[in-house]
Amino acid sequence: MKQTALLSLALILATGFTGTAVAAGDAEAGARLFSKTCGGCHSIGENARGGFGPQLNGIIGRPAGTTADYQYSEAMKNSGVVWTRDKLAAYIEAPKKVVSGTRMIFWGISDPEKIDNLLAYLETFQGQ
Ligand code: HEC
Repeated sequence: MKQTALLSLALILATGFTGTAVAAGDAEAGARLFSKTCGGCHSIGENARGGFGPQLNGIIGRPAGTTADYQYSEAMKNSGVVWTRDKLAAYIEAPKKVVSGTRMIFWGISDPEKIDNLLAYLETFQGQ
């Protein structure tokens, strides 16, 4: 009896932890998604620079519109947004809802798991 109780407790905990793992995102899946859906306009990593869109190194916590080698829209420069995980998730889902007038033309991704994966991938470039 006691063992069964322990086992169910372990199961509950394990499910709980799996839940967090999913929420934390899968950076490898995020990498594939990034190169497919963002990489045409954005670069990230060691030699990243502004191109069609701004480079995204260290994006989490970065104030919007502040990389030196990219000409942002007035809307982005004046948005006052700081790219927290929540703001990024909302922006990836619907760019114009977060920065109305942004030049980023993107249909948006609504699947929260995909957004989490993308964020996990972006997070691996925080030190760059
Ligand atoms: C069609 C090209 C295009 C695609 C695809 C695209 N972006 Fe952008 N993105 C832009 C442009 C252009 C800007 C600058 C917008 C402005 O100045 O208003 C931008 C801005 C951003 C910013 C703000 C950066 C800063 O320095 O403030 C983030 C974050 C961002 N994009 C993330 C993404 C992510 C993540 C994806 C993929 C899910 C993506 N973008 C897909 C063109 C694109």
